[in-house]
Amino acid sequence: MIRVTYVSREVAGLTSDRLLALISQCHRNNPSKGLTGMLLHGNGTFLQVLEGEESVVDALMSAIAQDPRHTGMTIVRRETVTGRQFDGWSMGFERVTDESLKSVPGLHNFGLRNFTPEYLSGHDDVVETLLERHRAPHWDPLIRELDARDKLIGELRRELLQMRNDKAMAALVLETMIDVASEGHINDAHLDICRTALHGLR
Ligand SMILES: Cc1cc2nc3c(=O)[nH]c(=O)nc-3n(C[C@H](O)[C@H](O)[C@H](O)COP(=O)(O)O)c2cc1C
Repeated sequence: MIRVTYVSREVAGLTSDRLLALISQCHRNNPSKGLTGMLLHGNGTFLQVLEGEESVVDALMSAIAQDPRHTGMTIVRRETVTGRQFDGWSMGFERVTDESLKSVPGLHNFGLRNFTPEYLSGHDDVVETLLERHRAPHWDPLIRELDARDKLIGELRRELLQMRNDKAMAALVLETMIDVASEGHINDAHLDICRTALHGLR
């Protein structure tokens, strides 16, 4: 297993919704590939760690290097590891701010203005400290937004299943009624089934 850390610069016009789409993409793809990691974003800069099987990480790194949403990918560290540091994060995400960076223990005179690919790629120790600080669970507003969206999608999916279920029930009732009507045997029990089905649909 390997862990790769790199920095890059976002391209102009990377709006919040495009960023959200990018994180959703990570959440969608990474679990089935056994990838975990963390993505920090701020001051137009990405700092990402990816951990997983070497061939899987390398294949993704090649794809990411060609992604038009950023440029100047520079690898800060690549190491063989025996365990994960970001277990439980298919891709943790945080938008760093001047305030959050200034409160990182162990960093002095470090703020958003230093959060650049140029600075970070030359300061391996700072990168380590930043990642250490962000390893703990945290709740970025964008992640909350993603979570809320996932919940909404879950509810819609359940609703849809319920609707399908109701529709299947209605179809079954109608088929039964057509069968019994064709034989001329409609009785009170059949009418009760109709009323129950109708009630369910309303
Ligand atoms: C900064 C950055 C980080 C990315 N991280 C990931 C990632 O962790 N997992 C992933 O699948 N794609 C990631 N991507 C997107 C890949 O470049 C690529 O678009 C994606 O893997 C294509 O897969 P798909 O089309 O099957 O979704 C990242 C892109 C950028 C710009």
